[in-house]
Amino acid sequence: MRPLRSVAADMPPSIARSLDAALEMTIVGSFSRAGFLLRRATQEWSDPPSVRGRTLLVTGASSGVGRAIADGLARRGADLVLGGRDPDRLESVARGARERGVRARTWRVDLGRGAEVDEAARELADDLERLDGIVHSAGALLPHFATDVDGTEMTVATHLLAPFRLTWHLAGRLAESDLATIVTVSSGGMYTQALHLESLEMGPEQYRGTTAYARAKRAQVVLAHEWSRRWSSSGIRSYVMHPGWTDTPGLAEALPRFSRLGPLLRRPDEGADTAVWLAAGGAGTEGTRSGIWLDRRRRSEYYLPGTRSGNASLGDELWTWCERRTGLTEASN
Ligand SMILES: NC(=O)c1ccc[n+]([C@@H]2O[C@H](COP(=O)([O-])OP(=O)(O)OC[C@H]3O[C@@H](n4cnc5c(N)ncnc54)[C@H](OP(=O)(O)O)[C@@H]3O)[C@@H](O)[C@H]2O)c1
Repeated sequence: MRPLRSVAADMPPSIARSLDAALEMTIVGSFSRAGFLLRRATQEWSDPPSVRGRTLLVTGASSGVGRAIADGLARRGADLVLGGRDPDRLESVARGARERGVRARTWRVDLGRGAEVDEAARELADDLERLDGIVHSAGALLPHFATDVDGTEMTVATHLLAPFRLTWHLAGRLAESDLATIVTVSSGGMYTQALHLESLEMGPEQYRGTTAYARAKRAQVVLAHEWSRRWSSSGIRSYVMHPGWTDTPGLAEALPRFSRLGPLLRRPDEGADTAVWLAAGGAGTEGTRSGIWLDRRRRSEYYLPGTRSGNASLGDELWTWCERRTGLTEASN
């Protein structure tokens, strides 16, 4: 039997596109490793551009998808700032990157502590020689209700307000780059929820980890588009992607039943592929203001009825909500 790659190499692009569309109609086909392998085999994927000499910050770099993103960017030549809470695990990722001949430093921050994020991000903004991109990969599905020191529900604090704070403090440095990139790692789970600002942050009585996570991941999509809308004129492009179902410590802990999917789960480098490609500029010089990327293609951000918002100013309203919750406004800059 001929190997998949050689059969696929002969496939006309129109058939490859139809195959991709057919995969997308089935969640298992699209999100699992099968989707990644079939798309990679049937589409003309080339290596992401080199990012040698550029500096990128990756949050959640100590584990799973973020770690694989850091490794992929180091392979492409990027100097790295590696964000996370565990200094030893971060240092081990940094060592691996240095072995690839790039510069890598660790950056300890707990994204669940807003004041700490502000302070650490301000210091980083002063300290860095240059900054050409941020990949927001840190995140976790939290089964139990918890709040940060300000009383903000922790899923919202880490997935939404922390990236907002971090990017807000570093935006000036990004704007100095000739072309800076923000990549947000959301989740296919966000397809199940609409964004309603009044119910984005769940209280202790109604808290369900999967719902809180899906809502925060939906909010990340809207925020990523808002960065594009507000900052593309400053040469900052923003993308949001999801990694499909990827075999990581985070997945095993939060959703142990998924681990039983075994070979259907993507390897971390496969889940990370689209984020690396986007962060390296694979999608061109324009960010995107709608859709979510998976396997190097921008896809609809809505599959389910009732999840689409008809509110054209939702991004603007989310921005104001984040400003109010963080105290970071244009006036405070
Ligand atoms: N795996 C999947 O199938 C899948 C699917 C959809 C979306 N995602 C998304 O992919 C991203 C990475 O997830 P993963 O599966 O790779 O999980 P993981 O292996 O648990 O990695 C999560 C990373 O986020 C960091 N993090 C979590 N909370 C943090 C906090 N409060 N402050 C600082 N860093 C924090 C962790 O750092 P520490 O080392 O300090 O804990 C770790 O580096 C997440 O945004 C997740 O929502 C994953």
